[in-house]
Amino acid sequence: MDDQERADAFYAHVMGGGKVEADDWMPDDYRAAVLKFVEMHANSELMGVLPEREWILRAPTLKRKLALTSKVQDEVGHAQLLYRVAEDLGKPREQMLADLMAGKTKFHNVFHYPTRSWGDVGIIAWLVDAAAIVSQQALRDSSYAPYARTMKKICWEESVHIMHGRDVVLTLMNGTSRQREMVQEALDRWWGPLMQMHGPPTDPATDRDLIWKIKAKGNEQLRQEFLSIYVPRIWELGLTVPDAGLGYDEVEGRWHYTEPDWAELRNVVTGHGPMSQERLEFRRTNHAATQWVRDAVLGAPSAAA
Ligand SMILES: [Fe+2]
Ligand SMILES: [Fe+2]
Repeated sequence: MDDQERADAFYAHVMGGGKVEADDWMPDDYRAAVLKFVEMHANSELMGVLPEREWILRAPTLKRKLALTSKVQDEVGHAQLLYRVAEDLGKPREQMLADLMAGKTKFHNVFHYPTRSWGDVGIIAWLVDAAAIVSQQALRDSSYAPYARTMKKICWEESVHIMHGRDVVLTLMNGTSRQREMVQEALDRWWGPLMQMHGPPTDPATDRDLIWKIKAKGNEQLRQEFLSIYVPRIWELGLTVPDAGLGYDEVEGRWHYTEPDWAELRNVVTGHGPMSQERLEFRRTNHAATQWVRDAVLGAPSAAA
């Protein structure tokens, strides 16, 4: 078999629902596409803890402090697992971290924004994790088997994060009017980024990640699922979704909403969000300050000096 025939057989295999293991032969463009996808996911888990860690010391009770600490720990663990998956595809972890810190690779839009109140902690754990789990559950069917298996474990933990977030929000909604206003104000700020999070609709005929089944569902399908599950739950708590154009169309069987700001999404994920540079700088400073630990553990030459 020549390379072209081999590649054709490979794509017929994945498009027919077949799985790929790390040590299977795969065409370079499939390998590159999976790596790019998983690397961005890993980056997002790692950068996603920064907005939340700022609240560990400010959590209102010991119980909340413990819950938030474990969530942050889980997310760092997710980054660890996903960098392992990405590493097997041929890019060393140090290179991935270097590219992230240099702004060469991306992380999800929602982690480029500031957290202003305890209400944000509830909205992030409830709704940002909810928007994420909708796509992560679909990734359990990824054609790249090591990624699919890793997502099974991650989804278990994500579902606990959502319960934790909903509990924070529910407690505030049952509190004072000022606490209710705090949640509504947080939702008002987070709704735009949440609606942008799955990305603009793509054409299923040309979306390579979809065709090769690296991801199992398209952006618009994921957004519709998120709206179907969570908008009724948001309303149930007495919150208002800040979009006058939002509504379910019974005839079309889909949600209508005001077009998300795609220019903002592009701007934010390319490192121009309100907190992008500050968060990357935190990572760079932290990476430099902890170099001695890696040197000691990995036995790098500077540790012996
Ligand atoms: Fe996570
Ligand atoms: Fe999470």
